[in-house]
This record gives sequence, structure tokens and C-alpha cells, in this order.
Amino acid sequence: MDLYISPLFRLILVATFIFHDSCSSDKAGYYSFLKDATSAPTLSHFDYIIIGGGTAGSALAATLSQNATVLVLERGGSPYDNPAATDIGNFANTLINITDLNSWSQLFISEDGVFNTRARVLGGGTVLNAGFYSRAEDEFVEAAYEWVEKKLVFEPQIKGWQTAFIDGLLEAGVTPYNGFTYEHIYGTKVGGTIFDRDGHRHTAADLLEYANPNTIVVYLHASVHKILFTTKGNSRPKAYGVIFQDANGVFHTAELTVQDARSEVILSAGAIASPQLLMLSGVGPAAHLAVHGVNPIILDHPMVGQGMGDNPMHPVFIPSPKPVEVSLVQVVGIPNFASYIEGGSGLSLSISLTRTFFNGVLDLLNKLKFPSQSISKLLKSLDLGLNVTTQAGVIIQKVSGPLSRGHLELRNTNPDDNPSVTFNYYQDPEDLNNCVKGLSAIINVIDSKGYSSYKYPGVNGRGLLNLILALPINLRPRHITSTFDLKQYCMDTTMTIYHYHGGCQVGKVVDNDYKVLGIDALRVIDASTFLKSPGTNPQATIMMLGRYMGQKILREREAF
Ligand SMILES: Cc1cc2nc3c(=O)[nH]c(=O)nc-3n(C[C@H](O)[C@H](O)[C@H](O)COP(=O)(O)OP(=O)(O)OC[C@H]3O[C@@H](n4cnc5c(N)ncnc54)[C@H](O)[C@@H]3O)c2cc1C
Ligand SMILES: *[C@@H]1O[C@H](CO)[C@@H](O)[C@H](O)[C@H]1NC(C)=O
Ligand SMILES: *[C@@H]1O[C@H](CO)[C@@H](O)[C@H](O)[C@H]1NC(C)=O
Ligand SMILES: *[C@@H]1O[C@H](CO)[C@@H](O)[C@H](O)[C@H]1NC(C)=O
Repeated sequence: MDLYISPLFRLILVATFIFHDSCSSDKAGYYSFLKDATSAPTLSHFDYIIIGGGTAGSALAATLSQNATVLVLERGGSPYDNPAATDIGNFANTLINITDLNSWSQLFISEDGVFNTRARVLGGGTVLNAGFYSRAEDEFVEAAYEWVEKKLVFEPQIKGWQTAFIDGLLEAGVTPYNGFTYEHIYGTKVGGTIFDRDGHRHTAADLLEYANPNTIVVYLHASVHKILFTTKGNSRPKAYGVIFQDANGVFHTAELTVQDARSEVILSAGAIASPQLLMLSGVGPAAHLAVHGVNPIILDHPMVGQGMGDNPMHPVFIPSPKPVEVSLVQVVGIPNFASYIEGGSGLSLSISLTRTFFNGVLDLLNKLKFPSQSISKLLKSLDLGLNVTTQAGVIIQKVSGPLSRGHLELRNTNPDDNPSVTFNYYQDPEDLNNCVKGLSAIINVIDSKGYSSYKYPGVNGRGLLNLILALPINLRPRHITSTFDLKQYCMDTTMTIYHYHGGCQVGKVVDNDYKVLGIDALRVIDASTFLKSPGTNPQATIMMLGRYMGQKILREREAF
């Protein structure tokens, strides 16, 4: 195999000092209702208890607080504590910052050998993500999207690199050009972004500006351990409260308003934690729960944790002979096969954080007994004390769907630990076909006339695939012998676009109103309920879902 490494070093072209904008918004003070869980009473009562102040949870909580008392329990801290960390130039650094238990990014590695991330901060995934905002295929709840868009979505400024990317997509046949739109339509378009013109990120936590400060309490560093159920006689189990732990290790109980039959516990802890917490609370496959000593078992629910899906992501890095702007995802190509093509440019990375990240990977691998030689080798090679900004573009594809499905199981009964997650990437041949089509399209974009000024002469799309093969981007076995074998390339170089979903799917774990089947006063509202990841990127639809369900629940409350 001929790995021509030299362009790899061109990736690391400009070592820069990263300047931080020190102006910080004063949201922590603004939100009088944002408190540390150490200040929580031993027992409190609310009409709605929302587990997870993330992407869906923040939208839901702000809405419900209009007409009811609401408690949000978020295990992480506040994004307003470190605004510079959410600026566009720090995207990669914040994502790989897994320094300690307070870091906003929690590393998890699926059984498939792919590095993945879970958010641990108020605002959830919107604090870590690439910011691209695009609605789903189905526009049935437009008003709920607009509520989100008014608060935190912007039209991106399209500069040189993104313009060349658009031209390349059109030349590669991803047509027509649809201009700037939130709609999901075939062709090439500019979507929304949660980064403003100055590169500052706006997150789902900002949706709490809509909240009624007199009826909502948000506890930070509040890690929920268990949902509590009443199970009198033969009646259906009914959720009545939760137990959570603060940063000092002290446990607190929150219960639903006793005299109000409309009160509910709502799980919005994300696609990993929502099925995990159901299991830890005794709702899941009974035999599996028994193995881990979960007691009592409330309801045998075999589908909890089943149907886990993750969209594979494949990046191609293209070192550029001329400067590129700092841009995350602004443009998407939606071809007539199940893959989406997106791109960014000018990513920055701190080498010391890269080292910390891979040390964290090694720690986890030692625990899980994965082979880790390639990582140790990389760590030895990282002896630069610098930050690097890449003078390069990156074009990625997300395989849509996917049809391949996996499962989630407990590893232990600690809610702060990752459960075991298997996604079975490319088990379904249709996913593999779509990956090959997507990669071929990326190669065509790179080799187009429109893109040509952002790549070195003599370099072509297929040759650039070799760059990824030289990096420890995952822990999967390498079988590839030639980049002409795109199927094998897809299998070997699978990464994630972090759009994982499933685990509490509609029709299997929850009904069409997101109520947990067989249980009263308990819903799940987040990405764990999806059968497939909506739109090109899911955050728009996840926030919209929180808003939409909040309004629906308030209407039901009114009519009760
Ligand atoms: C690097 C990256 C890039 C991405 N890029 C994009 C993009 O450009 N566009 C896009 O649309 N989407 C993108 N996504 C995906 C998108 O951000 C996620 O799909 C979405 O944020 C998930 O929302 P959620 O509400 O299901 O979960 P989350 O937002 O993760 O919310 C779950 C919350 O629950 C909390 N929690 C978990 N367990 C507990 C517990 N036991 N007790 C208390 N709280 C708990 C978590 O801390 C978290 O805040 C990206 C994601 C990542 C990570
Ligand atoms: C590198 O970046 C990190 C995080 O952004 C910063 O704390 C550090 O000071 C930077 N170091 C240099 C040498 O620029
Ligand atoms: C809130 O409750 C009041 C009184 O019951 C009702 O008139 C109003 O429509 C409700 N508002 C919302 C947003 O549900
Ligand atoms: C990394 O996260 C820690 C919290 O765990 C924080 O104190 C630190 O500032 C972060 N570093 C960067 C460079 O963002």
C-alpha cells in the first residue's frame, strides 16, 4: 500500500496563537433560575420534571413553564461560564476536551470501535455541534421551527472556500442550486447556522430566555440516578418522581405535584442516557436488568435500548495552497441517493488537548481491553507544543438512514458511566452502497473545475483518501489494500457524525404522543425516539420537537 504522507504535513501549515474574545454575555446572572444542585432541598415538588437540559429538554422546559411549574435536572454545567469555548474557532478543541468530569464533552467508544461523544452541559449537543441548522423532510409543525429560528438561527456568510464547494457540488451533479433555505430539498443549498456573524455560538440553552422565571428551576450538576414509580396492586406503574445526586455526592428527591394527576416526568437525556436511565429505573429487558441487579424491575420492556442507529461519517481533507476562511457546515448537497455532503474549512486544534484526548482514549481502552497500539504510536509523535490551524478544507458525507441497527446494554448501574453501545455500521449492504456513492460524489467535487483553486495541482480526490488511512481515526481493523475498493474503505474508516438515535423508538418504547408504553406519567422526548435521523442534520427537528410537544402537553393540560 502506497501511503503518500507528504500532504498530511501540509495540513498543519499555519501554527497560530488562538486569541479569545473576552467579552462574555451575562446569562448566568440573567437566568435567576439557574442554580447549582447543591442548593436543592432534600425534597421538592413540580408539575413537570425534565431529565436533561439539552437540545430537546431546553425547548420543552421553556414552553411548559408558561403554564406550569417545571424542574430541569442537568448533569453538566453552564455554557455561559466559558463563552469563548463555544466560539467557532474552538469547535474541535471543545469537542476533544475530555479533561475531567466537568468537561462538556464525554468520550464514549462504541463496540464498533468508533470514537464518539456525548454532551454534558446545559444546551446539550448544541454546545458542541457544528452548528448547521436545517429542517426535516416533513414540515408539519412549521410554527414550532420558527420559535427556534427567531431565537438562535442565522444565515451564514458564504466566503471563498464554501463558494468553491457549492460550485463543485453543482458540477458533480447535485442540482439544482436552491440558495439559502431551511427546507429539505434535493440539490445544493445554503442552510442556517447557530453561529452568528462574529462566530459566537447560540445554543438551546438560549431558548430558556423564553421561560417564565417564576415557574422554572434549572439545577446544574444534577445527575439523575433513578425514576421512581408507584406500582399499587395490578395497576399500571406510574412515575411520581426522581432521585438525583449533586456535585458533593448528596442525593435529593424531586416529586410530581401530588394533587395534580396531569403531572409528568419527561426524559430528555439524549439517545444514550434515556434508554440507560429507563433501564436503571427498572424499565427494560427484564433478564438483562436482573443480571445487573436492578431492583425492583418495574416493567419488562424488551425494546428499550433496541434499534440504536448511527449515521457513518467519512471526511476527506484537502490541503489548500491558499488561505481558507474558518467555516463549519454552511452548505449541504442533497443528492438523489441516501447520503448528504457537507464541508468546512480552517479547523483549529490544540496539540496538548489532542494529547489529552488520546490519553483519555487509552484509559478507556485499557478498561475495555481494546487494542491500542496505533494510538500509542500517535501519542509519541505529538511533541509540538502548539496550536495548529489547518489551511485545508474538509468535505464529509453522512450516510442517511441508516438501515443497519444495533443495541444498547448496561455495563454497570452507574448513570455517569457509558453503557455498552453497538451500532453495527454497514451491516446492511444498502448503507454500504450509499457510502460508495457519497464518496464518489466527494471525489467528483474535489476534481471539479469550480473547486480547483483550493487544492494543490496534481492532487486528486481519490489520492486524498489516503490521508485518512494514515490517521488513528478509529479502532476498526484495516483490511483495505487499495482506495479503489471503496466498500472496504467505508468499512475500515467509519467515523460518526454524532447523530446517533433510537433506543426509545416511537411505536416500540413510546407511543405517538411519546408516552412510555405501559407506564403512566412518563414520556421520552429527544433523539432516542427517532426511527431515522431527521433532515440532513437533526438539531432543528429536535428543538422543534421539544417546543411542539410542550405546546401539545399544555393544551392537553388545559382540556383535562
Ligand atoms: C460534534 C457534533 C457535531 C454535530 N453537528 C451537528 C450539526 O451541525 N447540526 C445538527 O443539526 N446536529 C449536529 N449534531 C447533532 C445534534 O447536536 C444532536 O443530535 C442533538 O444535540 C441531540 O439532542 P438530544 O436532545 O437528543 O440530546 P442532548 O442534546 O445530548 O441532551 C441530553 C442532555 O441530557 C443530559 N443528561 C444525560 N444524562 C443525564 C442524567 N443522568 N442526569 C441529568 N442530565 C443528564 C446531558 O448532559 C445533555 O445535556 C452534532 C453533534 C455533535 C456531538
Ligand atoms: C492553545 O489553545 C489553547 C485552547 O484554545 C489555549 O489555552 C493555549 O493557550 C493555546 N496555546 C498556544 C501556544 O497558543
Ligand atoms: C394557560 O392557562 C390559562 C388559564 O387556564 C389559559 O387561558 C391559557 O390559554 C394557557 N396558556 C397556554 C400557553 O397554554
Ligand atoms: C477544558 O475543560 C475544562 C473543564 O473540564 C475547562 O476548565 C477548560 O477550560 C477547558 N479547556 C479548554 C481549552 O476549553
